[in-house]
Amino acid sequence: MNIQYQQLRDELVGFTSQDIIQYVLKLFRDRIVIASSLSLEDQVITHMALEYTQKVSQSCRIFVLETGRLHQETLALISQTQEKYKFIYEVLYPDQAQVESLVAKKGNFSFYDSIENRKECCHIRKVLPLQKVLATADAWITGQRQDQSITRNMLDIIEWDDANQKIKINPLANWSNQDVLAYIKKYNIPYNVLHDRGYPSIGCEPCTRAVKSGEDARAGRWWWESADQKECGLHSSE
Ligand code: ADX
Ligand code: SF4
Repeated sequence: MNIQYQQLRDELVGFTSQDIIQYVLKLFRDRIVIASSLSLEDQVITHMALEYTQKVSQSCRIFVLETGRLHQETLALISQTQEKYKFIYEVLYPDQAQVESLVAKKGNFSFYDSIENRKECCHIRKVLPLQKVLATADAWITGQRQDQSITRNMLDIIEWDDANQKIKINPLANWSNQDVLAYIKKYNIPYNVLHDRGYPSIGCEPCTRAVKSGEDARAGRWWWESADQKECGLHSSE
């Protein structure tokens, strides 16, 4: 394991989310990237990060994995957020030849047929582009929270990402959904209009649906799979 990771782990003890974000942005500068799916959590982190970097005239790298299957509402929020905060996302697209080959062989909806097919699509459209951007960084920041799913209940604010050999920071790991909503409201942060239409968690359009009241927040993600399978490879070592 990485020595810098061990050291940083000790340094971040007792820090607030805002402190963590500022500290790691200052430490890693251009060698840290923020992963944004435009989720509520990512919008909170984006707001905190840009507020700091713009104050100290530092650049801030925020990337979106544009899978080619995102909702138009998510694409609209990319533009809206860029306009509001006066910055530009790094938008990562999947390799065109790989997408063409997948679609030629298996069609546009192969992910519904098996978990293997679903992971293959996520691998091409998300994981490989993620690896490409992470090759330019030593650390990355995500909006994951513990209470999002059973696969995340042990999530720490700092982790060693073994699959990518990078430091991974989850500044909102201990936040509740209520904390996130209150922050969005307090600072009037733009958010995905789909949240007001019953979509608590939003990924790609064909793999996300609205949930019924009382259903788990991630019940609408890959709804045809069991809850313990619902990681696309961004946050698991598969
Ligand atoms: S997923 O693995 O199930 O898709 P989820 O939607 O919960 O992940 O998002 C968790 C975190 O992963 C987000 O807060 C963000 O940091 C990162 N992430 C997920 N999807 C993307 C994406 N399309 N582009 C960039 N980052 C993403
Ligand atoms: Fe493909 Fe669905 Fe994964 Fe998006 S979420 S990359 S459409 S399988």
